[in-house]
Amino acid sequence: MDLFLLICLLVFLLAAAGQSSTAARPDVPWSQNYAILYGQDHTQSLNQGKEIQLSIDQVSGSGFRSLKTYGSGFFGMRIMLPPGDSTSIITTFYLRSYTNNHDEIDFEFLGNSTPPYLLHTNIFTNGQGSREQRINLWFDPTKDFHDYHVLWNQHQVVWLVDGVPIRVFENKENIGVKFPVQAMQIEATMWTAPWASPHGKPPNWGQGPFRAYYQGFNIDGCVAENNTIATPCFGSNSWWNGKNYWKLNPKQLQEYLGVRKKYMVYDYCIHRPGSKPPECNIH
Ligand SMILES: *[C@@H]1O[C@H](CO)[C@@H](O)[C@H](O)[C@H]1NC(C)=O
Ligand SMILES: *[C@@H]1O[C@H](CO)[C@@H](O)[C@H](O)[C@H]1NC(C)=O
Repeated sequence: MDLFLLICLLVFLLAAAGQSSTAARPDVPWSQNYAILYGQDHTQSLNQGKEIQLSIDQVSGSGFRSLKTYGSGFFGMRIMLPPGDSTSIITTFYLRSYTNNHDEIDFEFLGNSTPPYLLHTNIFTNGQGSREQRINLWFDPTKDFHDYHVLWNQHQVVWLVDGVPIRVFENKENIGVKFPVQAMQIEATMWTAPWASPHGKPPNWGQGPFRAYYQGFNIDGCVAENNTIATPCFGSNSWWNGKNYWKLNPKQLQEYLGVRKKYMVYDYCIHRPGSKPPECNIH
């Protein structure tokens, strides 16, 4: 009987342990992983520090940055964009290195007065950018929080929206295309630029201040011990470096091709005048 009870207890404990490891992790407070970058008085901590509000008006924008520098990972946040007429306001989530010829992986949400909202993405490698793509988001990003992620390992960079891959930058160093190999910090900002509106229109400041909301401050990333180089983080056995993440799986590939077909409005490989960079000739 005692043995039976013991076995019951063991089975129960194992089941409980299994459950907790598959359940979603609770959100950590923002301050555990991030600090203000600029515009402190235009930021606000909400919900016991589990949510941050950035804002921008005529006086200032605002932004925050990860405390640590990363060399690979699956980086994400939940973001809700400013409602109203946010034309010319740019809300961002990106990774960047602080080096001379920097690496950078961008999500830039372009303000508008109505859906569809444009998501502008770019990537810099060894200081070289000009690799813009734009898609129309298939939902209204000002109404709810949505998940935005960057997967970065030695084989590919993937931008995901609610788990759907919307862009892939494969490692093509074998044909001379630079890949991001510099350790990067995670940042989120709000700013304004004339290029973000169709006719260089200034923001409608009367509708401001414009506010964006961020949640989800856990970081699935490999901390770069050497603050500048990412490569030690490519060899580790972190899950995002595993073989399943070296390229899109068949289901992801279907989803990705669907997004390109239905929602892509600009691709530097197709629309940019002049000669194409080498990575464009291999689709
Ligand atoms: C804003 O929305 C209009 C109407 O859908 C569209 O023509 C325009 O390109 C959009 N502008 C930006 C910057 O998203
Ligand atoms: C990081 O690596 C670079 C390149 O190898 C080296 O120049 C630099 O001194 C290293 N920095 C640290 C803090 O180890």
